[in-house]
Amino acid sequence: MTGIDDLPVRDELRGKSPYGAPQLDVPVRLNTNENPYPLPEPLVERIAERVREAARNLNRYPDRDAVQLRTELAKYLTKTGHHDLGVENVWAANGSNEVIQQLLQTFGGPGRTAIGFEPSYSMHALIARGTGTGWISGPRGEDFTIDLAAAERAIAEHKPDVVFITTPNNPTGNAVPPETVLALYEAAQAAKPSMVVVDEAYIEFSHGDSLLPLLEGRPNLVISRTMSKAFGAAGLRLGYLAADPAVVDAVQLVRLPYHLSAVTQATALAALEHTDTLLGYVEQLKTERDRLVTELRAIGYDVTESDANFVQFGRFTDTQAAWRRILDYGVLVRDNGVPGRLRVSAGTPEENDAFLDAVRELKKELDA
Ligand SMILES: Cc1ncc(COP(=O)(O)O)c(C=O)c1O
Repeated sequence: MTGIDDLPVRDELRGKSPYGAPQLDVPVRLNTNENPYPLPEPLVERIAERVREAARNLNRYPDRDAVQLRTELAKYLTKTGHHDLGVENVWAANGSNEVIQQLLQTFGGPGRTAIGFEPSYSMHALIARGTGTGWISGPRGEDFTIDLAAAERAIAEHKPDVVFITTPNNPTGNAVPPETVLALYEAAQAAKPSMVVVDEAYIEFSHGDSLLPLLEGRPNLVISRTMSKAFGAAGLRLGYLAADPAVVDAVQLVRLPYHLSAVTQATALAALEHTDTLLGYVEQLKTERDRLVTELRAIGYDVTESDANFVQFGRFTDTQAAWRRILDYGVLVRDNGVPGRLRVSAGTPEENDAFLDAVRELKKELDA
């Protein structure tokens, strides 16, 4: 049988594995940081209406520049981000993964490098590889915060073309203080200058504010966002960025023509009409996230501070065995490869109860 390595694939892809969070059919799935609440019925109806309208024109290519959608996204950001943005500041694509891919195609690529402070979102490194961008794994401290001095040294030494800062960070959950982001931006400008991409996929769950106001006067700063988490629309595949209009012009050099289907644009526009209802679930999830932190600590686990819709906990001597044992109880959590740690997404109160019961039992077994 022919295997991948029998094909003339690029050298840097040989022997590598694709992204693959397990999609197992278990009663409680808390492993991919999805929003556990299905979309409310009035929104489902509105999506059907808008998609029906869009279907009448599917013989035509969609709006290549997604102007209406970008305008509505800019309004949403302006309303929630304390910073005035227009359509010219916003770009949208199929999930923030595609946004990141377009950024790396534009500002990274062969002969260039990107840095991230790990453990962090694994796709940054994978997309770097896919776009031929060299990857530099920058340091994090023992407590998973970014050690500013060490990070500044890494930027000065490697002079990367792109710097990723994920806040709140995945999989650890902690946010990066705005002063640290600012200092890293300055370090990146002094070293190269390079683009700084702040991945705010989970910002709506944070105790703190978005870094959108920092965009003013910083043309090399990009903030990437998604509708997959707070909006509860992971299946929609809609991510977006906010930046200086020049960045929006630049990514258009690499985007495929008509990359956002008319159906995607219609669905996202319908979701944006229901922003207030959708963000109502965010408050519930934040409460549940805080409950998970408190209860996990009470049980005796070591828990990383969380500003996201998930919580990192441990420590385990055999992380894989702990993951498997929790699965035996019908609960799927995530092993992100962080030594001694697992990650659980905040689910509904019932799902979180099932998870807490499972890890309570696990703790008894481990202490026995
Ligand atoms: C930090 C971070 N950025 C981006 C993404 C990708 O999200 P999207 O569904 O918008 O591609 C994720 C998804 O888990 C994430 O954790």
